[in-house]
Amino acid sequence: MLQKPRGTRDFLPGEMEARRTIEWRMRETARRWGYREVCTPEFEDLELFTMRSGEGIVEEMYVFEDKGGRKLALRPEITASVIRMYINEAKVAPKPLRWCYFADCFRYERPQKGRYRQFWQFGVELIGADTAQADAEVITLAAEILNATGVTYDLKVGHLSFMRNLLKDLEYPTQRRMMAFLDKKDFDGLKNTLESMNRPDLGMSLISLSECHDLTEAFEIAGTIPEKERIIRTAECLDAAGVEYSLNFGIARGLDYYTGMVFEGFAQNLGAENQILGGGAYRLAHLFGGDDVASCGFAIGFDRVMVSLGDIQHKKETVVAIICTDEGRRQALKVARTFRDAGIRSEMDLMERGLGAQLAHASRSADFAVVIGRREAESGTVTLKNLQSGEQKVMDLAAAVKEVSADGAR
Ligand code: HAM
Repeated sequence: MLQKPRGTRDFLPGEMEARRTIEWRMRETARRWGYREVCTPEFEDLELFTMRSGEGIVEEMYVFEDKGGRKLALRPEITASVIRMYINEAKVAPKPLRWCYFADCFRYERPQKGRYRQFWQFGVELIGADTAQADAEVITLAAEILNATGVTYDLKVGHLSFMRNLLKDLEYPTQRRMMAFLDKKDFDGLKNTLESMNRPDLGMSLISLSECHDLTEAFEIAGTIPEKERIIRTAECLDAAGVEYSLNFGIARGLDYYTGMVFEGFAQNLGAENQILGGGAYRLAHLFGGDDVASCGFAIGFDRVMVSLGDIQHKKETVVAIICTDEGRRQALKVARTFRDAGIRSEMDLMERGLGAQLAHASRSADFAVVIGRREAESGTVTLKNLQSGEQKVMDLAAAVKEVSADGAR
């Protein structure tokens, strides 16, 4: 028997209904903040992703050559594509641009619960606003979208300038290695490497910074930081908006394009793969041949949110089974259409079953049966049977639609 590729999933109708319910809540929140949906290609030139992050990232991607010999990659994330699209299509549009997306991404990772090779992100990118208010808007929106889903999480906000200030004397590749240790919370790795470089002091400062949750203290550890005022103002905006968050100056972010404020969200009830949100301020456009526009955004790991929510309760749809004899079939087709036009899910027998078998099937799959036999066909009525109570009545079609609609509204 053929199986789906490793790290991918199939979704049955019930799961898709639950996913769409949560997706809709995310979209609806973003819409209210003025973020409009964009869509980019599922694959891009490989260079789009290696330009900032280096060739190393190829290991984690689905990379292939097309028949024309072009090197392409399935997108591992959407931010780079959105910024490429901004440069191609919307460079001159009035700023700021508020965009959002819901799209699948592909990463060649070792699959486990909450970590897949194909997964979905709901994200936003705010392009062209370089202020504390912009940073705060993006964080606040992330929190509101997560709140709308009902997930319980911890939000951590930091800023790269603290770490970068401490690391500024090191070569850039070494800085990146140290940030990678910090990102993985590998403090031993960090300490050992810095000790071998005769900089144990730096290891101590970086670890203290990672464990510090107070702005004043962080400024004391990291020294003079040009972004100080902006960082204070961002925190003030977040407090004024009532966002629940904690400060965390150990956030380094895995991706390479971040320049300032960074933030992450963690679901409280998930295990190892509990990061459900990641984002921050970044600059990418200049790398792709555009202006050096400041941007800020985040992506929510949609699948992890769904795992965290577990079995969600969503409103059950009312289902009507249209049941007929041969004499009633023509009339039944019209009846089904009337129910569907009224927005009611209606299903007809396709198996040429007898009346009894149709009813038996309906009792397992529907809430109401609408029966059209010879008598109903001749009199232009229907028999409406409530499959839960067993109660049944002959009535005209409009009355039956009204009764079923009233049940759906309950
Ligand atoms: P990221 O942190 O790499 O950031 O991914 C965002 C989220 O996607 C993660 O927090 C996680 O929930 C989810 N995720 C990542 N990998 C997997 C996986 N293999 N399986 C399931 N979920 C996964 C970005 O992608 C940035 N583009 C975010 C951003 C937008 N920064 C600025 N704008």
